[in-house]
Amino acid sequence: MSMVIAPSILSADFARLGEEVNTVLAGGADWIHFDVMDGHYVPNLTIGPPVLASLRKVTTAPIDVHLMVEPVDLLVEMFANAGANLISFHPEASRHVDRTVELIRSKGCQAGLVLNPATPLSVLDWVLPKLDLVLLMTVNPGFGGQAFIEGMLPKIAATRRLIEESGRDIRLQVDGGVTVKNIGRVAKAGADTFVAGSAIFGSSDYAATIKAMRAEIDA
Ligand code: DX5
Ligand code: ZN
Repeated sequence: MSMVIAPSILSADFARLGEEVNTVLAGGADWIHFDVMDGHYVPNLTIGPPVLASLRKVTTAPIDVHLMVEPVDLLVEMFANAGANLISFHPEASRHVDRTVELIRSKGCQAGLVLNPATPLSVLDWVLPKLDLVLLMTVNPGFGGQAFIEGMLPKIAATRRLIEESGRDIRLQVDGGVTVKNIGRVAKAGADTFVAGSAIFGSSDYAATIKAMRAEIDA
């Protein structure tokens, strides 16, 4: 499976968002990670479907929408219509996880399930085969720029084993505190899709940072 780097635009300059997105894509990013926070499921508020629709006009790159909202289902249709390629959600924010997965797929999007640091892998029981992606949070959701929780490395490895056992083509994405310094270890633990916000948008040369990340992943 190809290694995907998905910059989180949470740490981008929102006044120049289209330009920021095109700069990271020109600099070697594969996807754009779009963090949606509702001030309810997480104590922070970000961007909604109209912003996604505007970005959809300036890029054809895959946009991966990470919903940190509760409830989930009402917003799935809006983000699908706005041009999301993949939509992930947190199981505790949906009353019927299987139904939400089906809803995402019925709108023509790929579906991802997100596990918070303390969420057990057992939430994947009975739903894993329907997923296109599992997202492991390596910080508690809500803010960019937090420190990577080192204790998540064995969880990444355990999730990789579950995906291998399923025999399916499911991506393993890691989100939170990913940097040039730790991305090699995250890759070795078994991740194939890497979200990084502050490490990329907080650097002076996005392309150089993405290149350095890819070198660590490939090492
Ligand atoms: C956190 C978000 C992340 C965040 C990552 O709730 O889901 O995507 O933007 O930012 P960094 O890479 O700075 O931890
Ligand atoms: Zn995210």
